[in-house]
Amino acid sequence: PDQLVVAVDGPSGSGKSTVCKRVAAALGLRYLDTGAMYRALTWWALERGTDLDDADAVAALAVALPLELGQDPAAPTVRVAGTDVSAAIRTTRISEAVSAVAGNLAVRAELVRRQQALVAPGGVVAEGRDITTVVAPDAPVRILLTAREDARLARRAQEVHGTADAAALAATRDQVLARDARDSRVARFLDAADDGVVQVDSSDMGVEETVATVLEVVARLT
Ligand code: C5P
Repeated sequence: PDQLVVAVDGPSGSGKSTVCKRVAAALGLRYLDTGAMYRALTWWALERGTDLDDADAVAALAVALPLELGQDPAAPTVRVAGTDVSAAIRTTRISEAVSAVAGNLAVRAELVRRQQALVAPGGVVAEGRDITTVVAPDAPVRILLTAREDARLARRAQEVHGTADAAALAATRDQVLARDARDSRVARFLDAADDGVVQVDSSDMGVEETVATVLEVVARLT
């Protein structure tokens, strides 16, 4: 089990991060948040005043990105050039800019290369949009964590606004759906057609139940 790789893809609001951290902790594995890598690069590019439409400049930044990921599932951290950006990369400003950066193919090549190096030794739960298809297509456990749109919006509203009332839902809706639409042009992460990818729908399950379901899938496949 030490060398185990659990690959999890899913859209925002599917509960991916919460569930993957819990699963990694339960199995004693590292936790790799690949979305955080795209976010960290976006943060750094904005910090340096790089034009996000300048594909070559952003690609060069990706190659030079001084990124350190703390992969303890109990306290994952993201550092860029020594600065802890764990909170800064979760802001709306970054969420709105990240898909443009993630759509840069040279950026993807560089970050996928780094992700594969981090996954290679095994002992990790890796989450993102293209883990089951591109980063770790040979992982023994590949899961697509989905949730209905209403459930995803309610979770994101709760996360960002602390409530899922009508106003919070409306404020969240445009942002989440716009990012999903941009992301769907980037990676085919919602494509569950791949053989061997187990789909888990978390819409009507709480965190505990979703974690238990994922752990059952892991037990069944390993
Ligand atoms: O998972 P999270 O919402 O933090 O991901 C942030 C963004 O990073 C996504 O909206 C997507 O544009 C990009 N991403 C990606 N491939 C991954 C993980 C994230 O393109 N494997």
